[in-house]
Amino acid sequence: MSKAHKKLEKNINLMSIWIVLAVSLAGLVELLPLVAQDQFIEPSEGIEPYPPLQLAGRDVYVREGCYVCHSQQVRPFRSETERYGPYSVAGESVYDRPFQWGSKRTGPDLHRVGGRYSDDWHRIHLINPRDVVPESNMPGYPWLMSNTVDGEEVANKMRWLQRVGDPYTDEQIAGASEAVQGKTEMEAVIAYLQGLGTTRTGR
Ligand code: HEC
Repeated sequence: MSKAHKKLEKNINLMSIWIVLAVSLAGLVELLPLVAQDQFIEPSEGIEPYPPLQLAGRDVYVREGCYVCHSQQVRPFRSETERYGPYSVAGESVYDRPFQWGSKRTGPDLHRVGGRYSDDWHRIHLINPRDVVPESNMPGYPWLMSNTVDGEEVANKMRWLQRVGDPYTDEQIAGASEAVQGKTEMEAVIAYLQGLGTTRTGR
């Protein structure tokens, strides 16, 4: 053992300083490339930012706490893919801020629910789940029928998302308010559910 090393091992203060230095340096080496990189995860093929109505529906989903009982992450196991469809990949969630993967499954995973039921089924189910699934313990959300979507708010959200890097065009933002004109929150959340896992089929 060299003399310097012996001194280091016997002096707890010196040792502490060197440990802090070594850990900090190693931390920087790991972190800095990620911070400097513009895009860490590339969007999967066919994945685009949410259209206005789906974006509004996604916010209803988050506000109502649907994620408390539903995950949006089909795991790469046979039991999962046979029940729900292709497993989820990170590139499908690049425009989800924050992502809705979740881990709590009181109800089924919803990542591939798009197109599985009709809009009518969803509406009846969301007003009172027991009308279509008698044994369901999911709460009803009847007020979504009477709340309307605020077009200006949706346009504003898109403007902010554009600012943080989502590739919305100025035309899309200008047309957002009209696209959701007179739509209820029920229509919005159903549009969101119907979009899940359809254009976003993974790989
Ligand atoms: C307290 C837990 C709970 C909450 C909160 C909840 N759900 Fe559910 N959900 C369930 C359960 C349990 C089922 C399975 C029984 C059924 O179909 O109703 C279910 C089923 C579903 C299904 C059918 C899925 C399938 O593959 O059959 C959809 C769609 C759904 N929920 C959407 C939502 C939405 C949207 C919200 C928020 C507005 C929500 N849920 C909130 C528990 C919940």
